Amino acid sequence: MQRLRIGIAGLGTVGSGVVRLLEQQRDLVALRAGKAIEIVAVAARDKARSRPVDVSPYRWHDDPLALAAADDIDVVVELIGGADGPAKALVEAALTRGKAVVTANKALLARHGTGLARLAESKGATLAYEASVCGGIPIVKGLREGLAANRVRELHGILNGTCNYILSQMRDTGRAFDDVLAEAQALGYAEADPSFDIDGIDTAHKLAILTALAFGAEVDLDSIHVEGIRRVGALDIAYANELGYTIKLLGIARQTEHGIEQRVHPCMVPKNAAIAAADGVQNAVVADGDFVEKMNFLGRGAGAGPTASAVAADLIDIARNRAIPVFGVPADRLARATPQPIEHRFGAYYLRLMVIDRPGVIADVAAILRDQNVSLESVLQRLRAPGDNVPVVLITHETDEARMTAAAAQIGALEAVVEPPRLIRIEQF
Ligand SMILES: NC(=O)c1ccc[n+]([C@@H]2O[C@H](COP(=O)([O-])OP(=O)(O)OC[C@H]3O[C@@H](n4cnc5c(N)ncnc54)[C@H](OP(=O)(O)O)[C@@H]3O)[C@@H](O)[C@H]2O)c1
Repeated sequence: MQRLRIGIAGLGTVGSGVVRLLEQQRDLVALRAGKAIEIVAVAARDKARSRPVDVSPYRWHDDPLALAAADDIDVVVELIGGADGPAKALVEAALTRGKAVVTANKALLARHGTGLARLAESKGATLAYEASVCGGIPIVKGLREGLAANRVRELHGILNGTCNYILSQMRDTGRAFDDVLAEAQALGYAEADPSFDIDGIDTAHKLAILTALAFGAEVDLDSIHVEGIRRVGALDIAYANELGYTIKLLGIARQTEHGIEQRVHPCMVPKNAAIAAADGVQNAVVADGDFVEKMNFLGRGAGAGPTASAVAADLIDIARNRAIPVFGVPADRLARATPQPIEHRFGAYYLRLMVIDRPGVIADVAAILRDQNVSLESVLQRLRAPGDNVPVVLITHETDEARMTAAAAQIGALEAVVEPPRLIRIEQF
């Protein structure tokens, strides 16, 4: 039987998962690949580290770049991580030598995806990255191959399981953000430094990749408006629930007549929206193609098993010589899209204020909204106790972001408003 010889750099959660999968599913993978997929060598930082899989049968390299140089390796599997440093050096070295690369590294692709796609194509090498977005969900294949004949109009996704877990727990238990985050860290769902996840950066990396795929555009991470979930309060989650919504951190990309809108922020979505079905650590993407209409993808977005499954699927494609341009169209035909600033967003808003409960406050708030041409759908005020601070929730009709943020700033400056207003965008999809 023919062989596809691979070298794996990085033996952490994903790298060890890939070794385990390729050992455990050896026969099935060989049947589907038409070749035996054989690990020839591995590389990581610390050879002495104890690992969940036995890597002693494989040649060890301290320097991952040795995998790119080795003549007995056909495919380099990069599972180190990081936008620059050894991961980038390894991927570039392998592609430059015409070797296929499989990676799970969203940071690398979000930062350097267009350049790497050009390099891969110029060398006739494959650059595969199914595992980089939504772990086990075949979203790269889904968009690039499954929906290849569609113009995608819009896509939105829950792309970070840690944030979705935290928001789901807050909703289910009524607990505060800091409390749930601490628990998620203790359970290993969140990193010791959680900012990459909870500040929306990881979601933005994945959105940048999906946008390039969906719209045939150059990867443009810097144009994404990014807000994380730190400011989502238990009170907002409770109000959302009462109003028939759930709060999710979404990555949204939309083709507008003026360009491509890309944004990451907490959203209120109707509880029965397709995207709301993703609970806990799950990920989901809804993509709207002009012929296929809305397609839903849902499942495990991280972890050793799902991510290894995606890496192995890429290896099987390479073994079968299935070669598709990195972002679906030749790299030199990727459009340089005009980014749409967040100020152009048009939609409804949830505005939650904490005010001193005294006559005239709501009238002042309403006057500011009227002057900004923002009309209200509903106002909710409860728990009245004269003299106390009370929450007031306003739901607006559709309006522009620029008007809404101007109104929120003016409202926040009112003497009777005792906390910065909380503004959450409502997406109906
Ligand atoms: N974890 C997930 O669920 C998941 C899901 C999707 C995508 N990803 C992506 O997959 C990649 C790997 O993630 P992970 O969670 O497996 O990370 P991880 O557990 O931290 O493992 C990283 C591995 O890279 C090795 N490494 C680090 N620096 C190195 C260097 N300079 N030279 C050689 N090896 C080096 C480490 O070696 P030592 O073990 O010797 O320290 C370790 O084996 C990242 O790009 C990540 O974004 C992860």
